[in-house]
Amino acid sequence: MPSTLLTGGSGRLGRELRARLPGLVAPPRSELDLTDEASVAAALARYRPELVIHAAAYTDVAKAELEPARCWQVNVAGTRHLVRHLGSAKLIFISTDYVFYGDRGDYREDDPPGPVRGYYALSKLVAEELARLPQRHLIIRTSFRPSRWPHPVAFTDLYTSQDYVDVIADELALAIFHHDQLPYDTLHIATERKSVFELARRRNPEVQPGSKATAKVSLPDDISLNTARWQALRARFTQSGGTASKLTL
Ligand SMILES: NC(=O)c1ccc[n+]([C@@H]2O[C@H](COP(=O)([O-])OP(=O)(O)OC[C@H]3O[C@@H](n4cnc5c(N)ncnc54)[C@H](OP(=O)(O)O)[C@@H]3O)[C@@H](O)[C@H]2O)c1
Repeated sequence: MPSTLLTGGSGRLGRELRARLPGLVAPPRSELDLTDEASVAAALARYRPELVIHAAAYTDVAKAELEPARCWQVNVAGTRHLVRHLGSAKLIFISTDYVFYGDRGDYREDDPPGPVRGYYALSKLVAEELARLPQRHLIIRTSFRPSRWPHPVAFTDLYTSQDYVDVIADELALAIFHHDQLPYDTLHIATERKSVFELARRRNPEVQPGSKATAKVSLPDDISLNTARWQALRARFTQSGGTASKLTL
C-alpha cells in the first residue's frame, strides 16, 4: 500500500509530527542514511511512498561552521539522494526562516532569499533548490524552539515568528494533512512576530532579558516570516473541521 515517508522522525519536529500524523513511515538513520545514496534508494524502493516529508537535517547552526563538509553531506547531498530516487512521489521539504538575511522581517514566500549568515543556512537554501526539482513539491519554511525554554536568558533584540515545536507541529500537521489542497510551491508556516524574549516568557516567567550581541554566531535583527498565505488556508481547513488531533494520513 502506498505510504507517506518521513525523514528525521527521531528529531524534535519529527517526533511531534509522528504523534499527530499516525501512519507515517519513519525509517531510522540505520535504515535510511541520507549520506549513503544506496540506503536512500533501498528505503524508497521498499516503502514506495506517494509522499515524502523531508525533515531530517544537520541542524547545529554553530557546529556547521566548524564541520561544513558534514553539514553539506547531510543537507545538500542527502536531499540530492532523496530527489534522485523519489520516483513520482511528492516531496515536502522542511526549510527554515534562515534562508533570509533577517534585517527587515515580514519575509514573503516570493521574496528573494539570502544573503545567508552561516553555513547551515547556505546548505538549507541550496537544498531548497534541489527540492524544487521533483514535479510535485512543496517547500515549507518554518522555525521552532523546544517545548520548554531551555536557557536562563532570551534576546530582546531578535524578532522572529518562530514558536514552540508543539505549536508549530500542530500547524505543519494540518498543512501536511491538506497537502493536496495547497496551491503553492512555497509556504511560510509560523506564528506572529515577537521578540525571542517575549516567546521565552510565555513558558518561563523567570527568563531574563539579554542581547544577541553576546551570541557566538551572527544573528538576525528580524527574521520574521509573512504567513498570510498560510493564515488564509488555515482558516479554511479549520472551518471544515480539521484539527491536528484527528488527522490520519
Ligand atoms: N530547530 C529549528 O529551530 C528549525 C528551524 C527551522 C527549520 N528547521 C528544520 O526542521 C527540520 C527538523 O529540525 P529538528 O530541529 O527537529 O532536527 P533535529 O532534532 O536536530 O533532528 C534531526 C533529524 O535528522 C536526522 N538525521 C541527521 N542526519 C541524518 C542522516 N545522515 N540520515 C538520516 N537522518 C539524519 C536525525 O536522526 P538521528 O536521530 O539518527 O540523529 C534526526 O531525526 C530540519 O530540516 C531543520 O532544518 C529547524
